[in-house]
Amino acid sequence: MTTEALRERLLADLAAAGTPEAVEAVRVAALGRSGAVTALLKTLGGLAPEERLRVAPRYQALREELAAAIEAKKAALSEAALASRLEAERSDMSLPARPVPRGTIHPVSQVMDELAEIFADLGFAVAAGPEIETDWYNFTALNMPAEHPARAMHDTFYLAGEPAGRVLRTHTSPVQIRAMTGASPPLRIIAPGRVYRADSDATHTPMFHQVEGLVIDRDTHMGHLKWTLTTFVEAFFGVTGVALRLRPSFFPFTEPSVEVDVGCSWAGGRLAIGGGDSWLEILGAGMVHPKVIANCGLDPGQWQGFAFGCGIDRLAMLKYGLADLRAFFDADIRWLQHHGFGAHDVPSISAGFSA
Ligand code: PHE
Repeated sequence: MTTEALRERLLADLAAAGTPEAVEAVRVAALGRSGAVTALLKTLGGLAPEERLRVAPRYQALREELAAAIEAKKAALSEAALASRLEAERSDMSLPARPVPRGTIHPVSQVMDELAEIFADLGFAVAAGPEIETDWYNFTALNMPAEHPARAMHDTFYLAGEPAGRVLRTHTSPVQIRAMTGASPPLRIIAPGRVYRADSDATHTPMFHQVEGLVIDRDTHMGHLKWTLTTFVEAFFGVTGVALRLRPSFFPFTEPSVEVDVGCSWAGGRLAIGGGDSWLEILGAGMVHPKVIANCGLDPGQWQGFAFGCGIDRLAMLKYGLADLRAFFDADIRWLQHHGFGAHDVPSISAGFSA
């Protein structure tokens, strides 16, 4: 075969090669150790010098031409492979984003945020205590020693095992004790959180939410309590001129104790907080009992103050017109989507609290 015929055959093979493997096969067949061009170059050593001078440049040129063509073909193939991969893996940025399932803020969480915001404006800090409490914090320090009949009213969940004397807190009032023993007065705190009682019917769930309020100072009195609660109710329900009624009551940890009603009307079957001639009980309160202050290591001759405790679930029901308490804890996604709040509906004094 002439050099020219060999050249044409190899170039045709190369042109026909469609994969990197096929190109490699052409390279081996031409330039490999026993390739056709290599064999040709090997014949040079056996040629007469003039003959060698004559053919050697042609052989060398053929080798170089083929090597370059093979490199070019390899590059073209890998470029084409990349292009088709880019085409196949292309992402279309014009596609709309998939709708992300959106969670909602539970009405109870929303109300807790509202409470924190309103009371922060009045100079209250938010405090917290454990939900598993000791008997001492939940009862004894609050002037309910063992055998005190008021303990029986709480339907307490007692924890088995060691250490003994642990309960699920039945109210947020133990946070009063933690606040008074944990920092020195004057104190102004609210403490929202979960509480537990062995009680379950249409209007009671074994877990519910309360917010505790506590002010301890040198000359705090019932007038401060009434003003604070009136200011809170007006901010929370977004109304003015709210009437509060303080009815004498009893709690072992306050003296005097009151139950607080807010004026409301049921005109047209719709509850409106503020005016009207009906009353709705919303919380318990009173002046912190001197024994409780002494139990916390403070001198009741110097320090006094008020406390209140309010059911948060009920506040949420009243404000947002939610009729069924048990729905709060069903975790029904449809209820949550309907009654929940957007993550951006952050309550604030300036934006208002009446969603
Ligand atoms: N802890 C009381 C309850 O759960 C409420 C309360 C708190 C009353 C603070 C007076 C003062 O019923």
